[in-house]
Amino acid sequence: MALERTFSIIKPDAVAKNVIGKIASRFESNGLKIVEMQMKHLTQEDAEGFYAEHKERPFFGDLVAFMTSGPVIVQVLEGENAIALNRELMGATNPQEAAEGTIRRDFAQSIDANAVHGSDSPASAEREIAYFFGK
Ligand code: TYD
Ligand code: MG
Repeated sequence: MALERTFSIIKPDAVAKNVIGKIASRFESNGLKIVEMQMKHLTQEDAEGFYAEHKERPFFGDLVAFMTSGPVIVQVLEGENAIALNRELMGATNPQEAAEGTIRRDFAQSIDANAVHGSDSPASAEREIAYFFGK
């Protein structure tokens, strides 16, 4: 199978909890290579544009406020089946519903502060990588 790239964010809650290394280690020990990585404090505009697909959702304002509340780590991960593999390692959006051993189950406490973002499709991965790292 061909190598694939996906986009990941270690969100402000996880950065604040000092678990950047533990989360990066989950990627590295499960066949994902970190090929781009940067710490960044997202602006309102960065976060609104990134989450534009959720603009009409009731949680949009809180989501943007949370994502701009502190620094994040933006990354590109590369590996076989990287997009689906990263989603599997992350676990369900709501940490309470996330499977045992997943990043969200182990490092997140609520649906709005859920430790990580990961692209959900090849089209999202392409858009999100370009959004933060260019083509
Ligand atoms: P979504 O893309 O549905 O989840 P995922 O991050 O698993 O792809 O939603 C984006 C983010 O919006 C999610 O990580 C946390 C936030 N969110 C809420 O705060 N409340 C909600 O009810 C949902 C669905 C998402
Ligand atoms: Mg999503």
